[in-house]
Amino acid sequence: MFKTLFSGTSIGSMTVPNRIVMVAMGNYMAEPGGVVSDVDVAFYGARAKGGVGLIVVESTTIDYEHAKSNRRQISVGEDDKIPGLKRLADAVHAHGAVIAAQINHPGRQGVAKDNGVASMPAPSVVDFQSPDKPIHEMSKVEISGIVARYGKAARRLKDAGFDAVEIHGAHGYLVCQFMSTYTNLRTDEYGGPFENRMRFVKEVYQSVRAACGSDFPVIVRISADENLWFAGKPGQGIRLADGVEIAKYLEKLGVDAISVSNGNFDTMNTIWEPVSYEEGWKTGNAEAVKKAVSVPVIAVSVIRNPDYAERILNEGKLDFIGSARQFLADPDWGVKAKTNRVGEIRRCISCLHCFETLVKAGATAKGQVACAINYQAGREEQYGDEMLIKNGNGRAVAIIGGGPSGMEAAIVLAKRGFRPVVYEKMGRLGGQLNTAALPPKKLKMLWQIEYQTAMLEKLGVEVRTDTAPTVEGLMALDPYAVFIAQGSKPLFPASIPGLDGDNVYSIIDILEEKVVFSDKNVVVIGSGSTGLETAEFLAGQGNTVAIYEMLEDIGPDLFFQNKIDIMGRLMPFKPGVFTKHRLVRIDGDTAVFEDMDTGAKKETVADAFVISLGVAPSTELVDLIKERFDKVFVIGDAIKGGRLEPAISTAYEATFGLE
Ligand SMILES: Cc1cc2nc3c(=O)[nH]c(=O)nc-3n(C[C@H](O)[C@H](O)[C@H](O)COP(=O)(O)O)c2cc1C
Ligand code: SF4
Repeated sequence: MFKTLFSGTSIGSMTVPNRIVMVAMGNYMAEPGGVVSDVDVAFYGARAKGGVGLIVVESTTIDYEHAKSNRRQISVGEDDKIPGLKRLADAVHAHGAVIAAQINHPGRQGVAKDNGVASMPAPSVVDFQSPDKPIHEMSKVEISGIVARYGKAARRLKDAGFDAVEIHGAHGYLVCQFMSTYTNLRTDEYGGPFENRMRFVKEVYQSVRAACGSDFPVIVRISADENLWFAGKPGQGIRLADGVEIAKYLEKLGVDAISVSNGNFDTMNTIWEPVSYEEGWKTGNAEAVKKAVSVPVIAVSVIRNPDYAERILNEGKLDFIGSARQFLADPDWGVKAKTNRVGEIRRCISCLHCFETLVKAGATAKGQVACAINYQAGREEQYGDEMLIKNGNGRAVAIIGGGPSGMEAAIVLAKRGFRPVVYEKMGRLGGQLNTAALPPKKLKMLWQIEYQTAMLEKLGVEVRTDTAPTVEGLMALDPYAVFIAQGSKPLFPASIPGLDGDNVYSIIDILEEKVVFSDKNVVVIGSGSTGLETAEFLAGQGNTVAIYEMLEDIGPDLFFQNKIDIMGRLMPFKPGVFTKHRLVRIDGDTAVFEDMDTGAKKETVADAFVISLGVAPSTELVDLIKERFDKVFVIGDAIKGGRLEPAISTAYEATFGLE
């Protein structure tokens, strides 16, 4: 099985044990100052142990003082970083994997004030989306200084025992900026015709070669297409035909492999995609490059399933499958695929919690990357499987609720040797994740249910579906502890009159098609993620939809990339959007709103009203159970409704620490 995926091959002089590449992913886990941390060592070590063949360490900075993206980014810009880098290389080598690091200068995508400069260097001054990011056109002296730094950085990696280096020429960072007509408007020898725009990457490459010698493998990551159509600028910047030419040029230069990615910061949703993008949607880019060059091609394309990976390898569309997030979500993807345990793979659901945490860490200089579904990621030293204390001794534990939180609790407890019993009142596991998968393009949510169900089966956890436990029933089990993971229910505030009307529905009524409308005027009240998704769902059924939101902006709980994704699909339906409107009451076919600016009351007539004002924890039984049992823990949505991340993290922490 997966013969090609697990066949070794080489990149230049480096032998890679299989075709699995963990592509660069900023994680902000380094010590402040850019020194590799213990957290980094454990994080990358776990991925090597889990079967990744080649690890490309996050975009590292070639100059910590002046060119970092975050103060907890790994730096390769100074000699005192070499010992830490060596620890990292050793940790990866210990598991038979090979290691490279991506070296980078952010150029216009860096933040000047964080780098102690008045403005960031860029090929040209091309307006950037944020005024916080002043830039200036690089002088030739500056260009040669930065070029030299790339070489020195690569040399440090080599000295630290790294097997290869990757020049970051993708995603709109400095090297990419020079390549692209979108960001390079220079009229000197670094701008204009193709050869001139390639001059910077050529000099960077030559600097690396000169520093590391002819047999040190050099990979260049490129954006084969900047996808500027996504930013409303079709035809601009690097398009696939240009990407192919860039790859050919790099091959001629002597580069040992091309890593194909795409996009820049203006088209971010095409780099690290939200949930709606299908596995394989951009494999065509890899294929186009692969056809044009004979050096190995590494590529990403929302690759999550080993059978898909094997297929595109066999079809000759690329030489190495790449992913960042898949290995954040499950470091053991490779080992599980190799040992016929595909069902146990925790597939990344593209929820973007990881990127959201990274952005927050960048903005606040606190925190690091985290995964919504893998609580251990970046916490290997504290919460890794090896750290689980296996003292359950078969003691029974009752878990009320078979949603993501209850299932996670059962998995951890079973690994610890307890005997969890899961009570689920519905006929199937998954709880509200089943509903979360119903809006358009959200089927990946079901992956999480499939993974957790497979783990319960593997661990032999007893699951009692169609069973709402009574206190007496629980007492018969005589559990050592009780975990309450009952989830939440839609919030219908009692303070708003009329919500009990026949034409007033919950989002669950709509998404589960307990009622189906078409050609109706429907008002959705509340524009959080579920409100917007439900609006899209209704619009797709042929209804005219209006969205009302009390706050200043719609989608208040949404990470900006997810909002762009939903709105991109919703807006073509031309929904009415009314912000700063608070629902006062519903009276038959009329809803009354208060304009939050003026206080004026406005009436809206509609066929149906859908309430999406959040969720309230389901707390039935909690008090009763607390009276009868000593160790009672409330986890997941039963604490705070909404997202998947707290469902998993609260379950993990409570069960990990159960004494
Ligand atoms: C949190 C996060 C950080 C990333 N950091 C980098 C980076 O430092 N360098 C880079 O080239 N790509 C970076 N990427 C992009 C990934 O390498 C990858 O191309 C992208 O996530 C799409 O592939 P995937 O869905 O399989 O992860 C990052 C992605 C994420 C989600
Ligand atoms: S946080 Fe979400 S998108 Fe990121 S790796 Fe985890 S599951 Fe994937």
